[in-house]
Amino acid sequence: MSQPVSIAVVGSGYVGLVAAACFAEIGHKVICVDNDESKVKMLREGGVPIHEEYLPELLARHRGTNIEFTSDLRSATKRAQAIFIAVGTPQSKTGSADLSYVDAVASEIARSIDDYKVIVEKSTVPVYTNEWIRRVVERNGVARELFDVASNPEFLREGTAVVDFIHADRIVIGVENDKAGQVLRDIYAPLTSGEYFKLDHAVPGDLTADTPPALLQTSTKAAELIKHASNAFLAMKISFINVVSNVCEAVGADVEQVSKGMGMDSRIGPKFLKAGIGYGGSCFPKDVAAFRYVAEQLGVDFDLLKEVEEINEEQKSRFFQKVRSALWTFRSKKVGVLGLAFKGGTDDIRESPALDIVHSLLKEGCSVVAFDPAAIDRTKEVIPPSEKMQYVNDAYAAAQDADALLILTDWHEFAELDLAKLHYTLRYPIIIDGRNLYDPAQMIEAGFTYLSVGRPA
Ligand code: UGA
Repeated sequence: MSQPVSIAVVGSGYVGLVAAACFAEIGHKVICVDNDESKVKMLREGGVPIHEEYLPELLARHRGTNIEFTSDLRSATKRAQAIFIAVGTPQSKTGSADLSYVDAVASEIARSIDDYKVIVEKSTVPVYTNEWIRRVVERNGVARELFDVASNPEFLREGTAVVDFIHADRIVIGVENDKAGQVLRDIYAPLTSGEYFKLDHAVPGDLTADTPPALLQTSTKAAELIKHASNAFLAMKISFINVVSNVCEAVGADVEQVSKGMGMDSRIGPKFLKAGIGYGGSCFPKDVAAFRYVAEQLGVDFDLLKEVEEINEEQKSRFFQKVRSALWTFRSKKVGVLGLAFKGGTDDIRESPALDIVHSLLKEGCSVVAFDPAAIDRTKEVIPPSEKMQYVNDAYAAAQDADALLILTDWHEFAELDLAKLHYTLRYPIIIDGRNLYDPAQMIEAGFTYLSVGRPA
């Protein structure tokens, strides 16, 4: 039987809060630390600050027993054996990751260490960050034998974060000695042994007790690089298929068929080959830029990543040109928009390509009527409602009397709309689908002018 480990998770953003809830779920005693007092209060009182499947259930199950919330990092450090740093590493002006939060947290942790601790980087950080954390802790007078710094990158996706954590493809632990390795192996033992998956309340997913997540132990530097390289590679896959979609448009082929054929090769794999309006979110744009910066600093030519970024920007412009070609002029036109979040299943609008397109529409003088199942409140903070920008409560209200309807986020429900109802709701039956949610033949049959990405019009 796995033994509970006392864990502190510092930072209760997407990664920190999900990791904390999942550590509690697999049997550990978790203290979730955040310096935002109002967030701590909300979490203590049963609130859930982010939209994430299964998270409310896990927090409700473990609040007050396996998980507690505090803004007192020092006492959390004293009580924990492993301290996970999951604070933000935003992009700075140079493209590099801004590590000032990590630095501040590491100093604060150092001031409370009086017995052996493993300090674990969970945030996405550039290679060598573990070295910096070690130096910061030592500078604060902590003896070398009282701590180790480890790297345990997180690969969860927003929207499926809990399932991704519990049913991980792999768990990477980067350590410099086996003492720290043992603490991390103990933490993940309920998953890697398959023990957790036998429980009745186990979070459902593809992997079962027979195929538990694999654990890979590496050096700390390798673990840091695995995270950046994985995100950069996935972003590259998306940019690659987006360029292929443009080639498909030029020759009248269907990119869905091409990506299916490519993905059937097990060396390529079918995932992250979906053409669209470009990648967004809080990770890929930031991590591609940060990894490029790391390479540059090391004197390594990684211009490939510059291309990945440029293609991503170009993809949004191309989509906007498609809208222009369908509407001809923009002024005094009304456009319905389905989707504001950077992808389906989340309320996150950070670096959302959908918002870039909305901004472009507004700049051209269009009126926009937008619907998103979860991201409206967050979008209102950056684009307040006005005469030109309205928010509505369902997809058909967004389509009402619109000159065209744009699909910008891949929410499942946008793929299941009542086409007859949409047809008579729209002023002109024009749908421009940036996520390829419909079969073009079906849309033509239903009487629409239907434009999508990388498929014959
Ligand atoms: C991404 C990675 O997938 C996670 O493994 C990683 O842990 C996370 O970043 C992170 O570093 O924290 P996430 O940003 O939540 O996860 O979302 P993804 O599902 O990867 O999607 C990113 C963007 O790519 C979205 O805008 C999505 O619409 C787009 N995308 C994704 C495509 O355009 N095509 C695809 O085939 C897949």
